[in-house]
Amino acid sequence: MKTRSRRRNVGGSPDSPAEGTSFFTRTVTALLRRISPASSTDVDDRASQQKIAWITDPHFDHAKLETWRLWADEVLAHRPDALVLTGDLSEGDDVSYQLRCIADTFDRPIYFVLGNHDFYGKSIGDTRRQIIELCREIDHLHYLTDCAPVQLAENAALVGDDGWGDATEGDYKNTTVRLNDFQLITDFQTSPPDSWQSILQQEGRLSGERLAAKLAALPSTINHVLIATHVPPFRESCWYEGRTTDDNWAPFFVCGGVAAALRAAAEQNPDRMHTVLCGHTHHDGDAEILPNLIVHTGYSRYGTLDIESMIDVTSDGFHVPRTHHTSS
Ligand SMILES: [Fe+2]
Ligand SMILES: [Fe+2]
Repeated sequence: MKTRSRRRNVGGSPDSPAEGTSFFTRTVTALLRRISPASSTDVDDRASQQKIAWITDPHFDHAKLETWRLWADEVLAHRPDALVLTGDLSEGDDVSYQLRCIADTFDRPIYFVLGNHDFYGKSIGDTRRQIIELCREIDHLHYLTDCAPVQLAENAALVGDDGWGDATEGDYKNTTVRLNDFQLITDFQTSPPDSWQSILQQEGRLSGERLAAKLAALPSTINHVLIATHVPPFRESCWYEGRTTDDNWAPFFVCGGVAAALRAAAEQNPDRMHTVLCGHTHHDGDAEILPNLIVHTGYSRYGTLDIESMIDVTSDGFHVPRTHHTSS
């Protein structure tokens, strides 16, 4: 296994998936994930056929309007064919508002999952139901937790699920961490603290089960799959200040349920490449869990808005440079 942290250290239900939404097919060739960015010359030689803007943990509620506008202009300037957002868009009712703004601004497919902050002020189930309703209203908005696999190319697909810090890793019993989740998400507010661990575990397990079903449903012609989720699935992908998580934080920053689904899928499909995009820790890094299972964790800082990567899909590969364009 190989892990690598990148640069800065700045602070920083539906209880079952619904039936499939429309498939989004593009005529691009194989996606080949690169753990190391290719040189600009390499990319030029391959001629990008599709660009996907990856955004994680924007926390739009912390950004000023002018920051939002600058960020949107910057994203538009890259002319992405689609956007992928890996959670923590905002909090409470602002999540729907922000999604509407994004949908109004970007007239192309917008794929997203929700992060823990997106559930603040409601229950997990009510939040998801509200977002599913919104996506039924807006054609190009796709909540991946509620979506069947999205076909991106003849042999490439996108799947996703929220994930949850599911108390399967680290020392839950002795942790000193108390996330706001327990005060601001109804499921925890209305339950005694001694039941929280089982709620966390259930959320992680359900996320893993939904993801496993989607991965199992992929046809054999799909040999490159991109997986969007919020919480790092593995400890090795849970970065903080250049290191991976300790036992105190791991219960809330690793989703073991999703990890199990990913590992099983990768082991059962050795010829299929599994590339995971996630956030939640606000510190970035890469982790190669298996030769065909790589996790990229994205960076965030409250009050600024970034583009985690403009993903180039080329004729012979998938280029994911981690250049950040901060609009603040
Ligand atoms: Fe976040
Ligand atoms: Fe988060």
